[in-house]
Amino acid sequence: MGRSRRVAAGNNKGGVGKSAWVVNTAAALADAGRRVLVVDLDPQANTSRRLARPYRVDQAATVSVSEVVRSGQAGAAADGIVPCGWEGLYGMRIDVLPARFDLENRIAEAAVMGARGRLARALEGVDEAHDVTLIDCPPSLGHLTQLGLAAADWAVALVEPEYDGVEGATRFRDFVQDPQTLAELANAELRFLAAIPSKVDGRLAGHAHHLTSLPAIFGPDRVWDAIPERSVVKDAADEGMPLSALGARGKEMRDVYAAGAERLWKAIA
Ligand SMILES: Nc1ncnc2c1ncn2[C@@H]1O[C@H](COP(=O)(O)OP(=O)(O)O)[C@@H](O)[C@H]1O
Ligand SMILES: [Mg+2]
Repeated sequence: MGRSRRVAAGNNKGGVGKSAWVVNTAAALADAGRRVLVVDLDPQANTSRRLARPYRVDQAATVSVSEVVRSGQAGAAADGIVPCGWEGLYGMRIDVLPARFDLENRIAEAAVMGARGRLARALEGVDEAHDVTLIDCPPSLGHLTQLGLAAADWAVALVEPEYDGVEGATRFRDFVQDPQTLAELANAELRFLAAIPSKVDGRLAGHAHHLTSLPAIFGPDRVWDAIPERSVVKDAADEGMPLSALGARGKEMRDVYAAGAERLWKAIA
């Protein structure tokens, strides 16, 4: 292919664990020796902060995904890509194209001819050394998500097993599979890969109920293993640290994300 495999994570709903999946899957892929690029397409920039690449006012000259998309020049992403701020091997294996709040401004450009293809063009020739590019989408099906989908080979939906979470994931899936979407994104290669149950609370009857409904909605092979809800995931996110930095507490969830990352790699490699 000559460049990394690109996977966009989405759901029309916020708070379902998209960014947590992107960050922890990046770590798991890096643990397995892969080189990963994370593209943060959410103006909230949670993913950038969690990868220890927060926007700082005193670094206003820093190039973010916003400038890269505005430029839309082939290869422009190279100007914005930085190593993640985590210690050790992660800094060598995970790169980030960070976001900041002014990414909102790109939404106004949605109607400009060719605007949807700007991230894809900006990544041209830039992610050749990476094995996987994970694209974190905001909770909408609007322009920013479309930028990500136009650049992606695969889409995965994080599914919180509650009514709104399932509906948001279904809408995302339907959007990705709509031939008209693929035509408008000029990306006939895009495929929906997986619905990944997320933040699953084993004590909730409602979660169990919604989990059983997923194979019929997405197809049995498309529903991947569930990611349980554990406070350690929130703690790592709050600290802007990898799960590995939380020692034995992080072990269970590292294993969960490692298994998911392995399945992802097998599916896309
Ligand atoms: N598996 C999990 N267990 C516990 N908390 C989680 C888990 N996944 C995500 N969270 C927390 O839930 C909140 C929303 O997750 P986030 O990844 O930001 O969702 P999204 O990107 O879909 O808006 C965050 O506080 C995050 O730390
Ligand atoms: Mg997010």
